[in-house]
Amino acid sequence: MANYDAIVIGGGPGGYVCAIRLAQLGLKTACVEGRETLGGTCLNVGCIPSKALLHASHQLHEAEHNFAKMGLKGKSPSVDWDQMKSYKQDVVDQNTKGIEFLFKKNKIDWLKGWGSIPEAGKVKVGDEVHTAKNIVIATGSEASSLPGVEVDEKIVVTSTGALDLPKTPKKMVVIGAGVIGLELGSVYARLGAEVTVVEFLDEITPGMDKDVQKTLQRILKKQGLSFVMGAAVQSVDKTKTKAKVNYKLRKDDSEATIDADVVLVATGRRPFVDNLGLDALGVKMTERGQIATDGHWATNVDGVYAIGDVIEGPMLAHKAEDEGMAVAEQIAGKSGHVNYDVIPGVIYTAPEVASVGATEQSLKEKGVNYKVGKFSFMGNARAKAVFQGEGFVKILADKDTDRVLGAHIIGPAAGDMIHEICVAMEFGASAQDIALTCHAHPTYSEAVREAALACGDGAIHA
Ligand code: FAD
Ligand code: NAI
Repeated sequence: MANYDAIVIGGGPGGYVCAIRLAQLGLKTACVEGRETLGGTCLNVGCIPSKALLHASHQLHEAEHNFAKMGLKGKSPSVDWDQMKSYKQDVVDQNTKGIEFLFKKNKIDWLKGWGSIPEAGKVKVGDEVHTAKNIVIATGSEASSLPGVEVDEKIVVTSTGALDLPKTPKKMVVIGAGVIGLELGSVYARLGAEVTVVEFLDEITPGMDKDVQKTLQRILKKQGLSFVMGAAVQSVDKTKTKAKVNYKLRKDDSEATIDADVVLVATGRRPFVDNLGLDALGVKMTERGQIATDGHWATNVDGVYAIGDVIEGPMLAHKAEDEGMAVAEQIAGKSGHVNYDVIPGVIYTAPEVASVGATEQSLKEKGVNYKVGKFSFMGNARAKAVFQGEGFVKILADKDTDRVLGAHIIGPAAGDMIHEICVAMEFGASAQDIALTCHAHPTYSEAVREAALACGDGAIHA
């Protein structure tokens, strides 16, 4: 048993970042993690392994589709799936070991095992009970289940199984055209699978800008993904090696079936709070099963806080990290802050999709008088040179004040470019501020400036 100023339960991006900041601020800190490695969903079975597979499969796509155009002729590489998986695992290992190193550097105790809170001020790990003045719950999320669909992580998989398939499938059905479905669907389509995405709604990536939704779906179709929209999956029948996905079209109730070697269930994630003892502790939950917190990430139980996927808000690693830092500062007597209006979201397909702030839809609902500055990557020399002229940058600004309210980008390196807009929004910048800033040529970022110019007197290359 040991006494701590703070114990963080969960070693994902929320928890590990929180623990590091607590230690940096001089608090005696421990982090409880039940997995073999630190880093949570994100580093072990989420952001990092998926991006490794996206990178490798994108290289293959480039070799197959674009190399010859540039005079790079010859046979395209063949796929050694075991080697690709071991590259992915190597990337994961480097990152998870990196967090272990940071824990040692910051003198954070890793309490290995599954934690629970028997009473306020106490955390139980295995048979040991430790005391802590402050407890931060950062236990993350798990894949949601779907009625009529039994996941075995072999034939019917969540993202975790999909990142570690024994062989690449010939036919894959993805249930859900959200972020996971489109990223991992892209991976296997590039590796040669026939991929069909079955989506309940009539558009992909719900909540995103409508222009982006349409453009992304068109591009993904060209890349070989098929879509069945407005379809409610009823059940999945399984044999030892195959599956049949049964769905009903919402428009006319007609029923159909698709065969697959692998079915990826990607219909959302839910907070993970199993065995923490929250009921007995009397922790208030939201209707959606999240831990309810106030504006400072405090639960209704004194000295118990919660952050990341386990509370409300977008289930994103950087949102969890920001909350981790902010709650640590709050606990240390400083004033931690997260600006929920400026949290970027990125889909790592090719091209990437990135957005921040308001959509046209949300501005219309609020009755805000806004203007749109849009610029196509067709007018961007650098994007055309790398065969990525298909997307656009769209900036939304207040019609009266010119203040930037949001941006939506589909195009090369969109996930990096979006931060220019994030910084602009944090500083309360106008579209003209961006338009008057010199942007290097030839860069993709020039498209951001052109979109900002389009909010005013007009883009130059449009
Ligand atoms: P988690 O990362 O889930 O970490 C929680 C940790 O707590 C886990 O390690 C778990 O083992 C541990 N834990 C739980 N209960 C206990 C307990 N009782 N005792 C001890 N330990 C416990 N987000 C992005 O921003 N960008 C991306 O590109 C991205 N890609 C993703 C790809 C996939 C396939 C998936 C599934 C998710 C992706 N996400 C991405 C989402 C991202 O992974 C999560 O938003 C993020 O991991 C949330 O961080 P967290 O710290 O709240 O929880
Ligand atoms: P999601 O919420 O992004 O998408 C789920 C999709 O499934 C939606 O389009 C929804 O309409 C559809 N759906 C729901 N029920 C259905 C049904 N019965 N039949 C057919 N379709 C159905 O969830 P997803 O993709 O599982 O991702 C979970 C979380 O992980 C997301 O919240 C996301 O934030 C995070 N994530 C983030 C990534 C990133 O930032 N690049 C990458 C991967 C995941």
